[in-house]
Amino acid sequence: MVLTALCTLRDGIKGGIDDVCEGQPAWKIVLVTAGGTVTLLALKNLLFQDESLYKRSKNSVFRLLRKVPAIRRKIETELEKINAMMLKEMNDNVENSEYIMQLPEKGWDQERILKETERYCSYGKCDWSAGYASGTVYNGSPELTELMTRVYEMSAWTNPLHPDVFPGIRKMEAEVVRMCCNMFNGGPESCGTMTTGGTESIVMACKAYRDYAVKVRHISKPEMVVPITAHAAFDKGAQLLNIRLRHVPVDPVSKKVDIRAMRSMITRNTCMLVGSTPHFPHGVIDPIEEISALGVRYGIPVHVDACLGGFLIPFMEEAGYPLPLFDFRLPGVCSVSCDTHKYGFAPKGSSVVLYKNKEYRHHQFFAEPNWPGGIYTTPTISGSRSGGIIAACWAAMMYYGRDGYISTTKAIIETARKIEQGCRDIPNITIVGKPDVSVVAISSDRFNIYTLSDGMGKKGWNLNALQFPPCIHIAVTVPHTKPGVAERFIKDVSDLAAELSQLPRTDSEGSAALYGMAQSLPDRSIVEDIACVYLDASYDTSYTKKPQDNGVKV
Ligand SMILES: *Cc1c(COP(=O)(O)O)cnc(C)c1O
Ligand SMILES: *[C@@H]1O[C@H](CO)[C@@H](O)[C@H](O)[C@H]1NC(C)=O
Repeated sequence: MVLTALCTLRDGIKGGIDDVCEGQPAWKIVLVTAGGTVTLLALKNLLFQDESLYKRSKNSVFRLLRKVPAIRRKIETELEKINAMMLKEMNDNVENSEYIMQLPEKGWDQERILKETERYCSYGKCDWSAGYASGTVYNGSPELTELMTRVYEMSAWTNPLHPDVFPGIRKMEAEVVRMCCNMFNGGPESCGTMTTGGTESIVMACKAYRDYAVKVRHISKPEMVVPITAHAAFDKGAQLLNIRLRHVPVDPVSKKVDIRAMRSMITRNTCMLVGSTPHFPHGVIDPIEEISALGVRYGIPVHVDACLGGFLIPFMEEAGYPLPLFDFRLPGVCSVSCDTHKYGFAPKGSSVVLYKNKEYRHHQFFAEPNWPGGIYTTPTISGSRSGGIIAACWAAMMYYGRDGYISTTKAIIETARKIEQGCRDIPNITIVGKPDVSVVAISSDRFNIYTLSDGMGKKGWNLNALQFPPCIHIAVTVPHTKPGVAERFIKDVSDLAAELSQLPRTDSEGSAALYGMAQSLPDRSIVEDIACVYLDASYDTSYTKKPQDNGVKV
């Protein structure tokens, strides 16, 4: 939806710039802009290729531009329009029902709460259980739902922050971590912790390596070297932890990280190297063996992000799809993030981060010995955590077991390969990279792929839109392995591709079609502003068709 908004913005800003440039000959504007760019590029090359300096100066040019009153006003009006559009869409999705603004004066009875919960949960049009969503719900079978619910019922009030009160939850967490260590061939020294999700697992690994770099390797300004295709959680970690992040380009065809570029970005300040198995955008596995070799050669720990693939890749060989080594058997691999709440089929809110040994993990931990509230120590960002989610995760792993995960992996990879082959056979559709696991990304040289994505949306699909370059992907999950789903996907893509191939090559139109716009906006700060408008809209409770002052009547 963020991107839907951009079309409005583009036209608006174009207008704004035209206003400002009125009376100036076009050549002058072009020259000034081009001159600016050339100077910046020259500066960039001259000044020891400092990417962040280049970025900073580029950004400050835009900051200045945005101070021009006409442009500023124009941007503000456009953001206001985008806000209105987003509010409308979000509220249409909940059937324009009123918001509850106050605690009910008198508590509701259980029957009413359950009825209302049912209503809230029925909003939304995407039928994920029939395989219409990319990723999102990785399993969702009724038997598993029942098991998860019963396990949560027993453990709902537990909290691993109090292992003396809930010793069994501590044991379950330790077992989940140990089972994952063994899935990734960690030795007896391997260890880890559970977290609330992939993002927290990644941020914790960044924290561990930052502190390891500062305390053990005496690096004062740690930097991480991360492929551009790695998850945005690394950028978030870098921002939160004040680590400089250097983005490594990937090979334009294979989408695997460019190892030579990675090597050239290593400095004496590098605190970690990253590879993904696979990465989110195109589902391609980075050359972990080579990254590991760089790590060993330069003495830098390597993190493998297996958030997405964590419960597929350890079973690929037995499922009949062998892979190169990617785990602790490689000498450079020092940590792995692995999401139990994706292909591990646990409910959302669980993931693990694993380390080769306890020394690395120590740098993840937090301890405050002087707090009047007691000697306080926690393994991760959270203080209190949900023991119920840990128990449910443990239960999902015990329910599937090795053989269960081998068969889900087999079914998922088979389906992904079928979709890949089907899409390869569609004229004017291209597969991006070579899908290694469960994600298949497609693009087109002939038409705007976001227009196809729009069309798929009208047929009930909910796919992921990607950028740089424009493409879309489907992350294959258990619901897609049901009979007929892959065939339906291929047919729908094929029909749309044939239709779009007949149309003249036009400028993109439609809503999500203008996703492309987000990529062409040189001023990334406007895209950031739109993202904030989107989040603000998500929390808005003021939008009602009939505004009411005293909250909602109950
Ligand atoms: C999903 C994902 C993450 C982050 O996971 P969250 O659980 O959404 O925080 C990290 N890396 C990859 C490759 C992923 O697909
Ligand atoms: C693919 O696109 C080309 C134009 O680039 C068009 O001539 C051709 O008919 C398209 N193929 C199909 C099968 O639609």
